[in-house]
Amino acid sequence: MSDQREFWNERFAKEGYFYGTEPNLYVASHIDAFDVPKKILFLGEGEGRNAIYAARAGHTVTALDASDVGLAKCAERAKSADLSIELIHADLELWEPSERYDAVLCSFLHLPEPLRGDVYAKVFASLKSGGLFAGEFFSIHQMPRTTGGPKDESLLYTAAQLRSIFDRHPHIEILELEELDTELNEGRGHIGIASVVRMAVKKP
Ligand SMILES: C[S@@+](CC[C@H](N)C(=O)[O-])C[C@H]1O[C@@H](n2cnc3c(N)ncnc32)[C@H](O)[C@@H]1O
Repeated sequence: MSDQREFWNERFAKEGYFYGTEPNLYVASHIDAFDVPKKILFLGEGEGRNAIYAARAGHTVTALDASDVGLAKCAERAKSADLSIELIHADLELWEPSERYDAVLCSFLHLPEPLRGDVYAKVFASLKSGGLFAGEFFSIHQMPRTTGGPKDESLLYTAAQLRSIFDRHPHIEILELEELDTELNEGRGHIGIASVVRMAVKKP
């Protein structure tokens, strides 16, 4: 916990919002598609841009992150907009889900490869039947680019790696799994053409 917490706390302690105040567009597209209020968990939610967007749209929102500084900024924004967001300060390695969600969403949550299997097993367990998990991540092709993301290959994704995680859960239905280049305009952290992997899966 301490390594992640310190790294992200230092980043989020700076003035403003590192990834801006608007939601990630891929995550927002899933929020926009819900036609009734949902119970949504955001993983690695940082300063809370997706959580704020979902709470404004009337969903019941929980934001989880290892950075208490990021979560405090999320709480401050929620308070000034008169929104209610539940916060969970936890490292995903140690987190044990105690609730069931209609959706678990994330943007740019870069876990080391050995952690991924366990964390995604917990994510799938935390979904209700029919629940959605969706996220956007930097792909391995982002390595040479300067438009955002970790400069450590072991933290980047390929569609094949993600598929191999889902293959351990044959009951999970893959709705979308795509590598592509897209243009990001997210605060000062993600700006320009970036190589990403997008995925959306459904628990039957
Ligand atoms: C690139 S930032 C993205 C923040 C937010 N999702 C966004 O797009 O604005 C990655 C976030 O994941 C969180 N994170 C990374 N590893 C984590 C872990 N093991 N447990 C909990 N949070 C983690 C960091 O604290 C950070 O807030």
